[in-house]
Amino acid sequence: KKVLFSGMQATGNLTLGNYLGALKNWISLENDEYQCFFSVVDLHSITIRQDPAELRRRARALLTLYIAAGLDPEKNCIYYQSHVSGHAELSWILNCFTYMGELNRMTQFKDKASKHADNINAGLFTYPVLMAADILLFQTDVVPVGVDQKQHLEITRDIAERFNGIYGDVFAIPEPYIGKVGAKIMSLQDPAKKMSKSDENPNASIYLMDDPDSIIRKFKRAVTDSDNQIIYSDDKPGIKNLIDIYSSATNKTVDEVVKEFDGKGYGDFKLAVGESVLSVLKPIQDKVAELSKDKAYIDGIIKANGEKANYYATKTLRKVQKKVGFPERI
Ligand code: TYM
Repeated sequence: KKVLFSGMQATGNLTLGNYLGALKNWISLENDEYQCFFSVVDLHSITIRQDPAELRRRARALLTLYIAAGLDPEKNCIYYQSHVSGHAELSWILNCFTYMGELNRMTQFKDKASKHADNINAGLFTYPVLMAADILLFQTDVVPVGVDQKQHLEITRDIAERFNGIYGDVFAIPEPYIGKVGAKIMSLQDPAKKMSKSDENPNASIYLMDDPDSIIRKFKRAVTDSDNQIIYSDDKPGIKNLIDIYSSATNKTVDEVVKEFDGKGYGDFKLAVGESVLSVLKPIQDKVAELSKDKAYIDGIIKANGEKANYYATKTLRKVQKKVGFPERI
C-alpha cells in the first residue's frame, strides 16, 4: 500500500482555506489504496509562543475536527505529533543533513520571522526539517497540502535524496498532492493575501466553527471590484476567489459556475457562495458538537492511534539510527 501523510497546526482557529486546501482532499484520498497518517502537529505550534492550556484545548479540538470532517479513525492513524517521540529524534538527525543556506531560502520562515520579530527562535528556522521528519518517518509517498506548503515539500525531497545518496534507499521520496481548486483560498478582505488563521481582521477569514450568520455576513462583505460580471480572471481576484470557493464547496467546475451565474449580480452570487459553504460546514460543526461529548471515545482513539503511529515511526527510526552509526540496542 502507498503511504499518505499530512498534518495541521493546532494554532489559531482553522479556516475555510485549511478545509478546502487540505482536509477535503484528505477525505477524498482516504481509501483502500493508501495507508493514511493524519497528525495534529503540536511540536510545530510552539515555534510561536502558546498558552499551554489553550494549546491543549486546540489540539484536542483539531483531532476531533479531523474525525468530524469524515476521516475514519479506525482506518486512518489520527494522532498527536507530540505522542510520537520519533518525530523529534528523526528531526535532529535530519538537521545534520540540511544546510543553513537551504533553510534561509524558505519563504514561510521569512514571513513568520517578520511577523514575530521578537521571537525568531531556532525552532522557527528548522521548522521545515521537523516537517521533513514527519513525512519521512512513515515512508510517505503522498502528501496532500495547499500551495503554501510546496516549498517545504521540495526541501523534504532534497533532504531525503541527499540522505539516500549517502546511505542507500532509506526513505521513500514523497510527492505533494495539491488539489486543482481550493489549493490557495484568499482573504475575503484582501484577495491578494492568502486566507490565514493569523489574520487580525476576523472578516478576512471564514473559520470552520463560525455560526451561520457570520458566514453569510462575511461573504456579503467580501471585497470584489466595481464591475458586475462574474468571470474567472486574474484581473478580478476577489470574484476569482469566490468562484474557487463555490466550485470547491459544490464540486462544480469553474466553467459550470461561470455559466450558472451568467447575467446574475454580485449580491446573488455572494449569497450563493455563503450558502454553499454553510452547507459544507454545518454538518461538520454538528458532528464536532456530538463527538466532543464522548470523552472516552476520543481518548480511546488518541491512545490506540498514538501507539500505532509509534510502531511505524520506530521502524524507520531504527533503520536510520543504524545507518548513521549509532550503537545497536542490546
Ligand atoms: P497549516 O497548519 O498552516 O495548514 C494546514 C493545511 O492547510 C493548507 N492551507 C491552505 N490551503 C488553501 N488555502 C489556504 N488559504 C490555506 N491555508 C492553509 C496548508 O497548505 C496545509 O496543507 N507546516 C504545515 C503543517 C505540517 C505538515 C507536516 C503538513 C507539519 N508537518 C507534514 C504536511 C506534512 C502547516 O503549517 O500547515
